[in-house]
Amino acid sequence: MGDWWKEEDLPVAWDRILPGGPLAVEVGFGGGEFLAGMARLNPDTRFVGIERFGEGHRRLLKILAGDGLRNVLPMVGDAYVLMNLAFAEESVASVTVNFSDPWPKARHARNRLLREEFLHIVARKLAPGGLLYAATDDVPYAYEAADALAGVASLASRHPGARWLSESPFPVRTRYERKWMAEGRPLHYFVYQKT
Ligand SMILES: C[S@@+](CC[C@H](N)C(=O)[O-])C[C@H]1O[C@@H](n2cnc3c(N)ncnc32)[C@H](O)[C@@H]1O
Repeated sequence: MGDWWKEEDLPVAWDRILPGGPLAVEVGFGGGEFLAGMARLNPDTRFVGIERFGEGHRRLLKILAGDGLRNVLPMVGDAYVLMNLAFAEESVASVTVNFSDPWPKARHARNRLLREEFLHIVARKLAPGGLLYAATDDVPYAYEAADALAGVASLASRHPGARWLSESPFPVRTRYERKWMAEGRPLHYFVYQKT
């Protein structure tokens, strides 16, 4: 459990507290620039953000207050816990994990998000036909993510001829993405669909 989530309140009654269209979840939204940008472009989609970094919430809330966006709801806590408990099975239209920390040291490996344990949780929450989007700048992590994705039978690649895409499928750039692009780093994007 997170610090204050109570099991009896979960999964969250999204249809009551954030009525609207499909549910799109962003995991590790950082300062929320991408989440807010996507919400602005897709006013009929409900965006739920998960982030454990408190300062990121403060930044996102400032953007939301400035824009008056009403289709975004952030959740503070750990993605493994919240992804698992806050959403009913097969209820989510998309999950996006942008530039999650690669945690290069072996002893920190369990913190990575693009590994089978987390991807299985995501796969359970996605509705049939739902999409998983992931991105990383880190080359070893990209290979590891590709292997982990291949290990989840209910997720099928939308780019079967290529391990990953080199261009973002989205019209909005994240804060880290802009930074890596400015440094000329090759970026790796994954799009998988729940079968
Ligand atoms: C490198 S930053 C990228 C932020 C943003 N997505 C971007 O591309 O600019 C990774 C973010 O994921 C968050 N994060 C990593 N693991 C998490 C977890 N298990 N639960 C919630 N947030 C997590 C971190 O707090 C951090 O803000």
